[in-house]
Amino acid sequence: MIKLEAWLKELGLDQYCPVLAENDIDLDVLLDLGEPDLEKLGFSLGHRRKLMRAIAARKLALGLGTTTPSPEAPAGASATHEAERRQITVMFCDLVGSTELANAIDPEDMGALIRRYQDVCAGAIARFDGFLAKFMGDGVLAYFGYPLAHEDDAGQSVRAAMAIIEGLAQTNRPDGRPLEARAGIATGLVVVGDSSGAGNAREPDIVGQTPNLAARLQALAEPNSILVSQTTHRLLGRQFDCQNLGERALKGFAEPVQVWLVLSEAVVESRFAAKQSAGPSPLIGRVEEMGLLRDHWNRTRQGAGGAVLLQGEAGMGKSRIVDALSRDIEDEPHFRVLCQCSPYHMNSSLYPVIRHFERAAGFAPADSASCKLQKLEALLAAGGAKAAATTSLMADLLSIPTDGRYPPLVLPPAQRKGAIVAALVDQLTELAAQKPVLFVLEDAHWIDPTSQELVTRLAEGIATTSVLALITARLEYMPPQTNGASFASRVLSRLTKEQCVDLVAGTAATRSLDSAV
Ligand SMILES: Nc1ncnc2c1ncn2[C@@H]1O[C@H](COP(=O)(O)OP(=O)(O)OP(=O)(O)O)[C@@H](O)[C@H]1O
Ligand SMILES: [Mg+2]
Repeated sequence: MIKLEAWLKELGLDQYCPVLAENDIDLDVLLDLGEPDLEKLGFSLGHRRKLMRAIAARKLALGLGTTTPSPEAPAGASATHEAERRQITVMFCDLVGSTELANAIDPEDMGALIRRYQDVCAGAIARFDGFLAKFMGDGVLAYFGYPLAHEDDAGQSVRAAMAIIEGLAQTNRPDGRPLEARAGIATGLVVVGDSSGAGNAREPDIVGQTPNLAARLQALAEPNSILVSQTTHRLLGRQFDCQNLGERALKGFAEPVQVWLVLSEAVVESRFAAKQSAGPSPLIGRVEEMGLLRDHWNRTRQGAGGAVLLQGEAGMGKSRIVDALSRDIEDEPHFRVLCQCSPYHMNSSLYPVIRHFERAAGFAPADSASCKLQKLEALLAAGGAKAAATTSLMADLLSIPTDGRYPPLVLPPAQRKGAIVAALVDQLTELAAQKPVLFVLEDAHWIDPTSQELVTRLAEGIATTSVLALITARLEYMPPQTNGASFASRVLSRLTKEQCVDLVAGTAATRSLDSAV
């Protein structure tokens, strides 16, 4: 029987285990809870939605319900499920060897295995904001980008498939071998309608080639592998390392289809870098903004650091400007520290900082705890950190056990956070004593509260250091209230019509489009 704690962990919601235990809620009772109950228990809105989806999916797996409930329709969406054309990413996943297994083992054991498999799938799909459309025996069909489109639906579908494969590897079949899955993912335009025609079906009817393609790719995949279509691969940008398997003839498709095998999640420092598939096009306009940043950088080099906030709607070119500054100062001695906020980790304390450290220290998935600790020590030593307490705090931040090599941290959690934030500010200051530091925080509209605390402390403490903090954010971001320190802020306006023409021409040139296009 799956335990509540393990289940919540798969969803990334295990921080609620204590409050559920205090209220005598086990996995059985949890299935009866509604959103108001979760609100009373202190679940945030995002977590309530995620858990409600997972509860519905688990009921579905247990034969107690229908499909994942769609979140409330977005403003303006039709309540009657009228047919609409939209782009979605479809994932098909299958349990490897289930027919052979069903013939070999007791039906009850087989039922338990299938339930475990469905639990893992439902948990992974909910965790990565997918919509679990259907269980078909040992097959699972899920949509990403439906009913609501998210920032990175293609990437989330691959992460969900990886989480399924990882989750199953921890469950053994009666013959001692771990469970395995294969997944196929395709993205394309589909028509989403109501299959009953009466406007009351729970499961949306998806019409188009995309589900067929995902199903064919799944059938082609080796055990424990994920195949993606050409469109999905393009949307993934450089987020994942993939191998080109060439064109394959697939049943039901007149033309051979380009197939990609996902190898691993790539280590990219920012969303902007992950999306750049072509070389850099020239920066169009933004002369004033570049001048402002250059001025700040020159002052920073002379020991008068500061914080600059670049705000603007999605796609206005905030990251492009940061990239242009980084290229401008490439040949000057300096350190660059980039922290990328994520829409999926807004409640995960210091997530952008943790990812930065993991990248900068060069952690690999197979590294042991002691190997990670050594890499962290080397990184901190290179940055000039001397105190053992700093290593202790950073190891704690990165959840690396220190096995008694450092004094244990005796601080309660709230003070521990404060101490980590202070140690991070100290590290940037120590780094700046060697060379000027460009600290970039990308997409602060997705910042978690502790990282926002770090921005505040940093802004308050950098006026006399060589640190320039450059923060990008969409318009909804509220800069923190600081004690005396101010942010130089710029809201990006739209490029002029002529500049847009130049921009399109520049993009086309770097992608070497045919001049006839
Ligand atoms: N001034 C510009 N010159 C050249 N290319 C630009 C310019 N502004 C934007 N672009 C291009 O437009 C695309 C979107 O820009 P960018 O990613 O910088 O937007 P953003 O404001 O950071 O958006 P988001 O809020 O989603 O992060 C990129 O491919 C970028 O290279
Ligand atoms: Mg950006």
